[in-house]
Amino acid sequence: MKHTVTLNADLPVGTISRHLYGHFAEHLGRCIYEGIWVGEDSPIPNTQGIRNDVLEALRQLSIPVLRWPGGCFADEYHWKDGVGPRESRKRMVNTHWGGVVENNHFGTHEFFTLCELLGTEPYICGNVGSGAVQEMQEWVEYMTFDGESPMANWRRENGRDKPWRLKYFGVGNENWGCGGNMRPEYYADEYRRYQTYVRNYGENRIYKIAGGPNVDDYKWTEVLMKEAGRHMDGLSLHYYTLPGGWDSKRPAIGFDEDEWFETMRKALDMDELITRHSAVMDRYDPDKRVGLIVDEWGTWFQVELGTNPGFLYQQNSLRDALVAALHFHVFHRHCDRVHMANIAQTVNVLQAMVLTEGSKMLLTPTYHVFEMFKVHQDAAALSLHTETETYRSGDQSMPQVSVSASKRENGLIHISLCNVHPGSEATVSLRLRGLAGTPAVSGRILTHADMNAHNTFERPDTLQPQAYDGYSDVSRDGLSVTLPPMSVAVLELRD
Ligand code: AHR
Repeated sequence: MKHTVTLNADLPVGTISRHLYGHFAEHLGRCIYEGIWVGEDSPIPNTQGIRNDVLEALRQLSIPVLRWPGGCFADEYHWKDGVGPRESRKRMVNTHWGGVVENNHFGTHEFFTLCELLGTEPYICGNVGSGAVQEMQEWVEYMTFDGESPMANWRRENGRDKPWRLKYFGVGNENWGCGGNMRPEYYADEYRRYQTYVRNYGENRIYKIAGGPNVDDYKWTEVLMKEAGRHMDGLSLHYYTLPGGWDSKRPAIGFDEDEWFETMRKALDMDELITRHSAVMDRYDPDKRVGLIVDEWGTWFQVELGTNPGFLYQQNSLRDALVAALHFHVFHRHCDRVHMANIAQTVNVLQAMVLTEGSKMLLTPTYHVFEMFKVHQDAAALSLHTETETYRSGDQSMPQVSVSASKRENGLIHISLCNVHPGSEATVSLRLRGLAGTPAVSGRILTHADMNAHNTFERPDTLQPQAYDGYSDVSRDGLSVTLPPMSVAVLELRD
């Protein structure tokens, strides 16, 4: 078949912010506790309580920004319980996620340590649903004020002299649901009030993110932009790829082609959601000052059999890898309005990068896509035009091939390609414009013959990127690329 892509290598159309490759780690199941935090006395090798294997794996992803502590947890979290000597910290019940008791050993200081060890920017989500304005104000003062003040002095007593640099701050989470069941009009007013006290101390400048709509609730976006748009820097959007629906979630492993198809189709719905929310935002903010912050996205399947249903632990297969790649292509296309995206979640929850079991750890197929695609971070998005055949199921269809391309400051061009069809390879004629000469090409691919392929603790390397040379006829004007069924590839062109 004929799949044709025309790539204008000399035509940048925007910048793919590295923040599109952001993460989200919540106090949920075994994400923070066990997955990240094991404590300084743990037999699992750790650095200041944070497990070394996970740290090392995540460092390879160049994670640009990490959202914490929730999620729904954020609107029940009282930060003062999580600072000071660990042995005297108050315990709490994580009522939203499994009803487990947490010892609060991972708090503000530990989170900033994690960010420092990862070289990532912190993104903190504050408590609007059950917290007071004063509590939020004092948290910002505690973290960012350099002078003499009750909160800054308390931070010093707790071992941190200098304030941290904090840019991203969310004023509540899902305030239409777990964050307070508010109407948009009410939340818009609450947002205006709370954000007033999220102060810029000294040189620190906060980028304020308002709690955004649930999926396709365009009215929420309309009301927030109209009533509070000028008080925010970003508006969040949450959308999960959830085959079957909330009441009949499907298994993460052991699915058939119908479920494969439904999952890909639902992943691509992200494009329509961003387009339509952006159109509403454009009415109030035509210059696109306010970013759409997709701070929760990813697959949501049935929990793994025998695990706590409140822990949202699921396996991760080749299907998740394709979902991740499709999302990145959508985010790249909308990089003028989408300023940040955060996958849910980093470890052991939903579409995770790594899974742990005791001292064991494995890298998921999604991890490998994040690693392969990191070359796009902060690169210039290139103009391209794709003509592709459709992949059909019943009366529904979607493009079989998805492509995105970017150019780094050093001139390297990266082209990522996905073939979502489970039974048909795709030969793509890649026409190149704007190159000086015949490029040197290299590539990597993630693929498998089995759509259910995944990594286990016994066989952690079933799916991992391989060197890829499925291209031919390379010239200054183009090349031909053959993508196996169910594959994600990244080509590097050195002009
Ligand atoms: O990521 C899991 C949960 O999904 C988050 O806590 C919440 O914000 C969303 O509903």
